[in-house]
Amino acid sequence: MIRNRLITLASVLLLAACAGRQEVQEPQIVPQPAHLERTEGTFTFDKSLPVYVDGPDSALLRTVGFLNSRLQTAAGFSLKVISDEDPLQHGGERGLFFLDAGLPAEAYNLRITPERIVAEYGDGAGAFYAVQTLLQLLPDAIFADTRQGGVRWAVPCVDIDDAPRFPYRGMHLDCCLHFFDIPFLKRYIDLMALHKVNRFHWHLTEDQGWRIEIKKYPLLTEKGQWRKETVVGSLHSGVYDGKPHGGFYTQEEARDLIRYAAERYVTIIPEIEIPGHSLAAISCYPELSCGLEDHYETATKWGIFKQVYCPKEETFKFLEDVFDEIIDLFPSELIHIGGDECPKASWKKCPHCQALIKKLGLKDEFELQSWFIQRMEKYINSKGRQIIGWDEILQGGLAPNARVMSWLGEEGGIKAAQQHHEVVMSPYPKYYLDYWQGDPDSEPLAMGGPTLLRTMYEYEPVPAVLTPEERRYIIGVEGCVWTEYMPTPARVEYMAWPRMCAIAEAGWTTAAKDWDGFTRRLETHLGRLDRLGVGYCPNFWNPFIDFHKDTEYSKVVTMSVDAPGAEIHYTLDGSQPTPASPLYEGPFAINPQQKVTAIAVRDGRQIGETKYKEFR
Ligand code: ACM
Ligand code: ZN
Repeated sequence: MIRNRLITLASVLLLAACAGRQEVQEPQIVPQPAHLERTEGTFTFDKSLPVYVDGPDSALLRTVGFLNSRLQTAAGFSLKVISDEDPLQHGGERGLFFLDAGLPAEAYNLRITPERIVAEYGDGAGAFYAVQTLLQLLPDAIFADTRQGGVRWAVPCVDIDDAPRFPYRGMHLDCCLHFFDIPFLKRYIDLMALHKVNRFHWHLTEDQGWRIEIKKYPLLTEKGQWRKETVVGSLHSGVYDGKPHGGFYTQEEARDLIRYAAERYVTIIPEIEIPGHSLAAISCYPELSCGLEDHYETATKWGIFKQVYCPKEETFKFLEDVFDEIIDLFPSELIHIGGDECPKASWKKCPHCQALIKKLGLKDEFELQSWFIQRMEKYINSKGRQIIGWDEILQGGLAPNARVMSWLGEEGGIKAAQQHHEVVMSPYPKYYLDYWQGDPDSEPLAMGGPTLLRTMYEYEPVPAVLTPEERRYIIGVEGCVWTEYMPTPARVEYMAWPRMCAIAEAGWTTAAKDWDGFTRRLETHLGRLDRLGVGYCPNFWNPFIDFHKDTEYSKVVTMSVDAPGAEIHYTLDGSQPTPASPLYEGPFAINPQQKVTAIAVRDGRQIGETKYKEFR
């Protein structure tokens, strides 16, 4: 897609810099810092530059090591690290200074003058984010994985004061509907860290596969990792591939990933689903079910399944054992217990469940679900951890200390915040990265939608109906990546990026929304993702054609394009549009004989791909 892109002003400046002139790329940071002021001049990195860190803090040294490792790879040199209690005694020297300025958690400042870079922080995450911003101030060649010649390794002088809007900035990945290996998860976490996203929500159990080793119940992975085949295409196709699908993470692999993430200031929140989405576990240990069926098998297609955990003592013993191992493994304060989409059909038929409802004086199966979650919450709380669950844990009454991950629109999040429970906003479909990000006619199979980049960007995660007091309970945002239709790492990256940039910005940035500013920064930022080899969706440069039914014989056409400064030209007769074709200026009607073909044009040239849409 680089090929198709017009050379922007920023790239012209960058090319000039490559040629050894003084200009550098202007600051284009994603997510946007809270306060950024461009000041006079530039600062150049070279191999004689020292970096002073205030003390022998190993985390800080590792963070500086991330910068050095990029410099070493792309520029062929690294900075000399000097550990000193009082770096400012070297204040007269050219250099990069890391100073603990007692800033709040995750905050940092960058003061860049032609003589020095001062990075102020208050904790390890702050210093790490100063480095992430510094990397984005350098030419995007810094993200290359080979030595880059002819680049001036310089940054623009700036004053940046930055701190996040929310403490919880999350990205989810479902590793059950499809399995993804540890090297890919490390890359996923690297990309999160680049965008200052600090929570990895690791979806580990499902109807279609159990993915985490539990030593006390080896069958969960020996057997439960497998499904015998997978539905091909859409959920309802009725066609299966006949190929077993499996994969799981050993505890050792999970520990390694947790450490890797922690070094990048990402906390991993494991999700173990209760009481629903538990068919893989039940297929291994049928005694955990209501026992209404002779045979249980890991699911081979997507959806919601009625075989759920039966709330009996042996189930609680099993779950307590599982959570014991999970809690041992994961240092996260929050443990995700799922809670979504638990059908009540089995509980309605099960004599044990019905007797339990009576015995406990519960109104119905929803209250039984609430009792189930509350019992597990008590256990998890007794181990010093807190639970978070999807909206449905509100049904039948919220557990006393539970956090809510609001996915069914905003209603659950609003209700929970009004009850003074902390909430993470991950509403479907606005923050669902498994939805189409363009016209379904020209996109790979996805869950629904479309949910365009702009829709995601413009979503405000704090609902206006909340009072100022209630708003404090919205602790952050999360983008959800359900992988029904993402069988490969490449498809995950295509679906997640660049839309995740918009969610990362919602989580981090306090500034008012500014779509034009975002798209300008994003265009530069996509150059960084190109260098990192991220196979993101290129619709940023493509026209989006949408039809709205008017009458049976006519449809209203609307079109849009994300790339800044681009306009759309189109034809209605199936011919290839050129920059001289009619300009799209607003909605218009077409008849069944017409077909829309459109291109995005900037500075007189086509950028991106030609898009078509038939009257259907
Ligand atoms: C969900 O999408 N079922 C949380
Ligand atoms: Zn039961």
